[in-house]
Amino acid sequence: MPLIPNTSNTDKRWWKEGVVYQIYPSSFKDSNGDGMGDIPGIISKLDYIKDLGVDIVWLSPFYASPQVDMGYDISDYQDVYGPYGTVDDVKELIQGCHKRNIRIIFDLVVNHTSDQHAWFKESRSSKVNPKRDWYYWRPAKYDEQGNRMPPCNWRSCFGGSAWTWDETTQEYYLNLFTPEQPDLNWENEDVRKAIYDNAMRFWLDLGVDGFRIDVVNMYSKHLPFADAPITDSSSAWQLAVELFCNGPRMYEFLEEMNSSVLSHYDVMTVGELPCTPEPEAVLRYVSSSAKKLNMVFQMDLVTLGFGKNEKFETTEWNLLQFKAFLDKWQCFINGNDGWTTIFLENHDQARSISRFGSDDPAFREISGKMLATFLCTLTGTLFLYQGQEIGMINAPKSWPIEEYKDVESLNFYNHVKKSTNSDEKALSKAHSAIQAVARDHSRTPVQWDSSQHGGFTTGQPWMRVNDSFSYINVRDQEHDENSVLSFWRKAIEFRKNYKELLVYGEFQLCDAENTKTLTYLKVHNDQKALVVLNFTKEEQTFMVPKEAHGQMDLVLSNSKTSSESKQLGPFEARVYLIN
Ligand code: NOJ
Repeated sequence: MPLIPNTSNTDKRWWKEGVVYQIYPSSFKDSNGDGMGDIPGIISKLDYIKDLGVDIVWLSPFYASPQVDMGYDISDYQDVYGPYGTVDDVKELIQGCHKRNIRIIFDLVVNHTSDQHAWFKESRSSKVNPKRDWYYWRPAKYDEQGNRMPPCNWRSCFGGSAWTWDETTQEYYLNLFTPEQPDLNWENEDVRKAIYDNAMRFWLDLGVDGFRIDVVNMYSKHLPFADAPITDSSSAWQLAVELFCNGPRMYEFLEEMNSSVLSHYDVMTVGELPCTPEPEAVLRYVSSSAKKLNMVFQMDLVTLGFGKNEKFETTEWNLLQFKAFLDKWQCFINGNDGWTTIFLENHDQARSISRFGSDDPAFREISGKMLATFLCTLTGTLFLYQGQEIGMINAPKSWPIEEYKDVESLNFYNHVKKSTNSDEKALSKAHSAIQAVARDHSRTPVQWDSSQHGGFTTGQPWMRVNDSFSYINVRDQEHDENSVLSFWRKAIEFRKNYKELLVYGEFQLCDAENTKTLTYLKVHNDQKALVVLNFTKEEQTFMVPKEAHGQMDLVLSNSKTSSESKQLGPFEARVYLIN
């Protein structure tokens, strides 16, 4: 499909310049002492969110769910998970946001449902049920010894085979995540219509302002199901992302979703786009003339250091790789009509200070402010995740594996345990990887104050509160002008004051080979800013690029050093306007 090159990525839109704040309902704020966050808890904190400078809230799944994958396994799109509240609470939340001029988007999880969804229950009830074809059912294969085998060798994203055997009807069904998350068959038109009505129009008509769309490139699989090439000879199950991401009908499905539903509302869409490293492929999702999605979360930067075959087989990463990905995804919209996103955290990522800054007490706050400067000066829509604004960090190394709750972490740990016969060294390595990159770190409850359980709940929290709550919490930071929270407020305001330059301006990487500092220019017409960031614990000297020669006015900084000095302190961040 030819793309019409134009410069409309500088067209102003609310969803481009709005700052988005993600809420993970189970861990945000508990209002009734049952240990689980809930919708009334969120409502009670809307003024706090507003004060931060947030324009759009993204609410992770709150729908009815058995919670095998924390709500990404939905059993009823039009109902609310009991401990979170009711549909009326959700309506009140929408109104509460709108009253404060905050928009609110929901998570749209339609690659799969829960196995407890009525659609799947019907589908699995018999081979002739009218909904049989709503999911992917296939007969078994048999190996030479006559052993029953799944239809193909795909590995699920959470480990093990992507196929689950069903005793009642003697067939396998496809599940790219857990067995409790069967994949919907998007090839079936009735399925698509049901999704549009049931999961989308229902909430849009109640006033929701758009969707974050879960695994938005997995709906179209390469059919018929063929074996993936063997990349891990130690396993029967193989990485098959090439066969289930960006399949042949993907663009068509999204065009249909857009023309049938989204285009009838003034809403925003942001799709989660795993395993898509090619800018041309990404542009086809986000080019405004292609009418599919407004933007996507491209994953290169946040998966830096993950193992190729297995996330937890972590590798070393360096600032040059970081810069290369940053440059690629900041610049990929230059000269076309696409749009991009900025994020380092979400509910699937460990905490950014622990990963990209330092959670060493000496550098925690300064590196958190450096990362805030970084994010608030980049081009695209800015997303931040609950707790990021107070500099929350990963759970400590001392936490035993029993404190981790996420199905992905536990599946990996149990796999290592089983496959190594509980080898101590292997288990300790697995534990370290989990401490570094597990999703659990973003899911520990928000630390509101220094009282018991960080003020998150008066009951027993569903997940242990990070031990740091006594010194990292909202209450302490709210009125401290030197806190990470105050810095985030200031940096967001700064971004808004210079939105032409910071939100829409062109990103130009400088000093690309420097392994310690990150330097870039933002340029918009005759406006120019220089951003210099020290990514290390040591002092560094920075070079002013020739494009920045002129009068340099220091307009944002995370430390007290002189604006003249070319010496940056540890994790120092500075933004100069160039005149
Ligand atoms: C991506 C979501 O962000 C993640 O939390 C979830 O486990 C998978 N998709 C499956 O829905």
